Amino acid sequence: MRISIDGMVVQVPPGTTILRACDLAGHYVPRLCYCPSMPSCSRCAHAVAALTEGSDRCGTSPASESTPAGESTSAGGTDQAASGPRECGLCVVRVGGTAGSAVLACATTVQPGLEVITDDAELRSARLERLAPLLARHPHVCLSCPDREGCARDECRFDVPVEARCCEEFGHCEFGRLVAYLDPEEKVARRAVGAPRASSQEGRIRREPGLCLGCGRCVAVCSSSPDAGDALEMCEEGGWWTAWPRRGSLRASGCSFCGQCVLVCPAGAITAPGPEGREWLERRRKQYPHLAPVLPPQPWLLLDQASLAVVPSEPGVFQLADAEGAVVRIAGCADLRRALAQLHAECRLDAVRAEDAEGAGRPGVSRLWFRFEVAPLYTERETELLALYAQEHGRLPRDNDLGDDLFEE
Ligand code: SF4
Ligand code: SF4
Ligand code: SF4
Ligand code: FES
Repeated sequence: MRISIDGMVVQVPPGTTILRACDLAGHYVPRLCYCPSMPSCSRCAHAVAALTEGSDRCGTSPASESTPAGESTSAGGTDQAASGPRECGLCVVRVGGTAGSAVLACATTVQPGLEVITDDAELRSARLERLAPLLARHPHVCLSCPDREGCARDECRFDVPVEARCCEEFGHCEFGRLVAYLDPEEKVARRAVGAPRASSQEGRIRREPGLCLGCGRCVAVCSSSPDAGDALEMCEEGGWWTAWPRRGSLRASGCSFCGQCVLVCPAGAITAPGPEGREWLERRRKQYPHLAPVLPPQPWLLLDQASLAVVPSEPGVFQLADAEGAVVRIAGCADLRRALAQLHAECRLDAVRAEDAEGAGRPGVSRLWFRFEVAPLYTERETELLALYAQEHGRLPRDNDLGDDLFEE
């Protein structure tokens, strides 16, 4: 089926949600309550919160209708506004052209010829409206602190109380990336918001309920995956929804310690801390690659030693662009940092050779820019991005055309 996304015509499978179609087409749409384990139904989590013992595990029909953005809706016969957390509303997009209506991308199925706009001033402002209440409850000041680089957050030059400082996920959390993407100009006031920071650990899993955003992803995955123990539920207090074990502790609630809740949690509310926790989580990532979050696009970075420091040693896909901004290469690799460091070393060597040949003082080679995304299934993601590029430009990027995949493993 052909639809258009931001003016680009793309082919998508029938029955796909707009959100999935945008992901396939490489047009990022923000999301928070959408759970990657349930790609056809964003609202499972909300309905799950309202399920009674013994009823169907999911209880909602796959999303199939356009849902006016910002309105609470019913699904599977439950009144979610009254009985579960409200959908995040961040995935709002416009359908039917520039004067069309706003719908939730995760809850709306594509129709032939549909025109989707993922970004305009009204959509941005609607998303900020939904972001504001989250920032009003969740610690976030460290995200925009001028001293954030290198700060361990144990001592604070600005005397921000401990309970208002960011958690150990600082620099890695999905919510931080989302905030930076949705509100780069900090239109939503940043304040020292404190949250109760009591935490408890069972096995490798640490819970810090005060950091819960109420997105419901963990409940959705825990109640629907055959490997998980249906151990979590959403509980409301004072209008704020938080994930809790059904019977006090994870063990008592039947947790199988599958780790899927850790993989989908966008904040520091459910984590696996420490080097051993990270190693354990890495194995879980490989076991459940479909739970990898779709993150906001990274900005382009100059390929130099300083920017390599922010690249993780994880599987993923990088894109290289020349000084004119033209993408010259798209490649997947098992270790992003190693692959980019190798490229950086080659560029420096080329520059030295060019200077030797043409005389010092002349720029040897054009400087390269890069951006990357972590993707456990990097071969598939590389193929997707190359197909998109070919669709837009009628050819592959210049260096991919050469067919010398340096990092094939
Ligand atoms: S999850 Fe942690 S690091 Fe991320 S915004 Fe929340 S407190 Fe800050
Ligand atoms: S680790 Fe436990 S709580 Fe988390 S998804 Fe698996 S069964 Fe559920
Ligand atoms: S614990 Fe994490 S995944 Fe679960 S509802 Fe809270 S923020 Fe969402
Ligand atoms: S992702 Fe939350 S409403 Fe669509």
